[in-house]
Amino acid sequence: MVEERPDPVPGDGQLLVAVEAAGLNGADLLQRAGHYPPPPGVPADVPGLECAGTVVACGPGATSHRVGDRVMSIVPGGGQAELCLLDDAVAMAVPEGLSAAEAGGFPEVFTTAHDALVAQCALAAGERLLVTGAAGGVGLAAVQLGRLRGAEVVGSVRDEGLRPAVAGFGAGVVIDPEEEADHGPYDVVIELVGAGSFPLHLRSLKTGGRIVFIGVGGTGPTAELDARQLMTRRAVVRGSTLRVRSVREKAEAARALAEDTLGLLASGALSVPVAATYGLGEAERAYERFAAGGKLGKIVLVTKARP
Ligand SMILES: NC(=O)c1ccc[n+]([C@@H]2O[C@H](COP(=O)([O-])OP(=O)(O)OC[C@H]3O[C@@H](n4cnc5c(N)ncnc54)[C@H](OP(=O)(O)O)[C@@H]3O)[C@@H](O)[C@H]2O)c1
Repeated sequence: MVEERPDPVPGDGQLLVAVEAAGLNGADLLQRAGHYPPPPGVPADVPGLECAGTVVACGPGATSHRVGDRVMSIVPGGGQAELCLLDDAVAMAVPEGLSAAEAGGFPEVFTTAHDALVAQCALAAGERLLVTGAAGGVGLAAVQLGRLRGAEVVGSVRDEGLRPAVAGFGAGVVIDPEEEADHGPYDVVIELVGAGSFPLHLRSLKTGGRIVFIGVGGTGPTAELDARQLMTRRAVVRGSTLRVRSVREKAEAARALAEDTLGLLASGALSVPVAATYGLGEAERAYERFAAGGKLGKIVLVTKARP
């Protein structure tokens, strides 16, 4: 449902942005269902963890961007609206050539994938990377970023019809999740589906391998750990979320992402796959489409911006 609200006013270090597009994410579904309250100070009934648009006002101390600039950013909530407050330090310039829908669907999944692969797992050239849930928003970001870092990427995708397209984004092999163990061993596994295959993934790690948990919506959050498997492999298991981080930590993740990707986005070497766009007034349909699965990349809401 779309409702009128008072225009937000940018505070210290904030930008007010006329939103052109805002991607949907799994956390939005959880928040709408009452299972994932936003941090204090963020409206609980306006979802949206990312958006792109034009700066219409700058708060005190917001000096990195100016009125009229096109920016994109992760936000703690409220992105799916005509106006949204962004942290100036976290916002990135929208590169030339990127459409509004692509820019609105970029920040959350690419920040998540980049942070997981680079900051958390230090993925190196020549390493073998397993991306689970590889046809989704984070999955396709991880496949592309893994390939660009020189890794050998294996994508696992349960929808057979989407596997050729995922290969087209740089996965050398795209497999059914049932085949994951057959295609190991892996240096890095990015868990986007849940903990269901954790014991198998741990046994499929090389010595010094790393597993990073990012999402648990598919097979849930719990698994049994055989510590001997961890010990013999000198393995590292970690997890990460973006939303709870401080502005400083988000700015650091955004800076690292921007350095590595904005030029590649502008040149077309990296792309933001958008499965479908919907108007703000069609948000219900957009959410139904997201929840139905079987999509390639992002579902994005687009709005008539009013800079
Ligand atoms: N930690 C963080 O900061 C952070 C940030 C962003 C996202 N996330 C989480 O990361 C996960 C991925 O996000 P996303 O945006 O990429 O979501 P998405 O676009 O919905 O993609 C999820 C993918 O996982 C697949 N999948 C779901 N259940 C599965 C199962 N049981 N077996 C095999 N594959 C399954 C889906 O396949 P189908 O299409 O066939 O269903 C889909 O391709 C979500 O859980 C999300 O909430 C976490």
